[in-house]
Amino acid sequence: MEISFSEKSQQFKAGIFAVLNEKKMELARQGRTIYNLSVGTPDFETPAHIREAVSEAAKDPENFKYSLTDRPFLKKAVRDFYLRRFGVSLEDDEVMTISGSQEGMAHIAWALCNPGDIALVPDPGYPIFSIGPELCGVKTVPYSLYEEDGYLPRLSEIPEETARQAKYILVSYPLNPVCAVADDAFYRELIAWAKKYNTVVIHDNAYSDIIYDGRTGGSFLAYEGAKEVGVEFYSLSKSYNMTGARTSLVVGNRDIVRTFWNVRSQFDYGMFLPLQYGIAAALEGPQESVHIQCADYEKRMKTLCGGLREIGWNVPDAKGTMFVWAPLPEGYTNSAEFTMELMEKSGMIVTPGSAFGKLGEGHVRMALVLPAEEMEKAVRAVGESGILHKK
Ligand SMILES: Cc1ncc(COP(=O)(O)O)c(C=O)c1O
Repeated sequence: MEISFSEKSQQFKAGIFAVLNEKKMELARQGRTIYNLSVGTPDFETPAHIREAVSEAAKDPENFKYSLTDRPFLKKAVRDFYLRRFGVSLEDDEVMTISGSQEGMAHIAWALCNPGDIALVPDPGYPIFSIGPELCGVKTVPYSLYEEDGYLPRLSEIPEETARQAKYILVSYPLNPVCAVADDAFYRELIAWAKKYNTVVIHDNAYSDIIYDGRTGGSFLAYEGAKEVGVEFYSLSKSYNMTGARTSLVVGNRDIVRTFWNVRSQFDYGMFLPLQYGIAAALEGPQESVHIQCADYEKRMKTLCGGLREIGWNVPDAKGTMFVWAPLPEGYTNSAEFTMELMEKSGMIVTPGSAFGKLGEGHVRMALVLPAEEMEKAVRAVGESGILHKK
């Protein structure tokens, strides 16, 4: 039988990542040293009190049943955390769990959009920002981000017609991959813009705890009027190193939360109860590890960026996220080709900027997933490779 697959499924060819992976295996077989900075999986441990809460809850067979709802203890933990951490007061019906922000962003359009509707997404931006709505039959319109604007959108340059038609705008700071942060003025402008055009704001807040230069990460919901116009995705993946647990929250506008809950309840029977206990333990427990880890990311970032600058590659310091956004060195224009050459010559694996949208071309993204000492070695390997001296 010849199976004919959907057009959507054909959008997701493995592409550059499969090629990178093959190359990586080949280098490993040759016994080469590899510095894998391509994937944003933290190498830090999940704090013990979170693991204990999950294991303890997993001893009770009752906790293996469909959970169907977010339990009151979990909602309380989220409400208390948002108030303590961000100064944001939430009601129970303004909070829900999702199985990772990735899943949330893949499905939120089902709650907000009809096929053919428009969603505004950043370019460059994390791929699910546009893949999510596209999977739901929504047309994405990229809004351009430029270095000279600090990678903040030029909201006033979005054509009136597009702004009016857009069902939602996806915004995320600190932003993966460009490592930029947003200031108060931007969020105020965004909320006013959203009200003017009746466009929902979805704020992806995956990196509020990984932010540098003494800044404190905030919440979109802390700004006046935010709850009226949108919701925030808060992920525990990076703050507490729980990427495999798939634990995230949607908080904010209660109508969006309720409608999204209704849609999700058709295919999801609630978060596994031991994970609900894990989330509560993370949010209510000691936060030292979050701060220590942020300081460690900053040290890695300074070692990597500073080291690369010393050897002649002008890579700016990141302002937040667990990544570095590096312009291609002189003499290179194609990020995928450069990535292959870098890996071949130095053993450093990065992600080509073109994977993050049209405006990502000309850059590569490096994940801060190795300790500072390894970063030093990686920098040395790049220096010795001769790749920065293209004729
Ligand atoms: C910007 C951004 N949002 C969301 C996610 C995914 O988070 P989660 O693990 O909660 O699905 C990532 C993961 O790298 C990310 O970089």
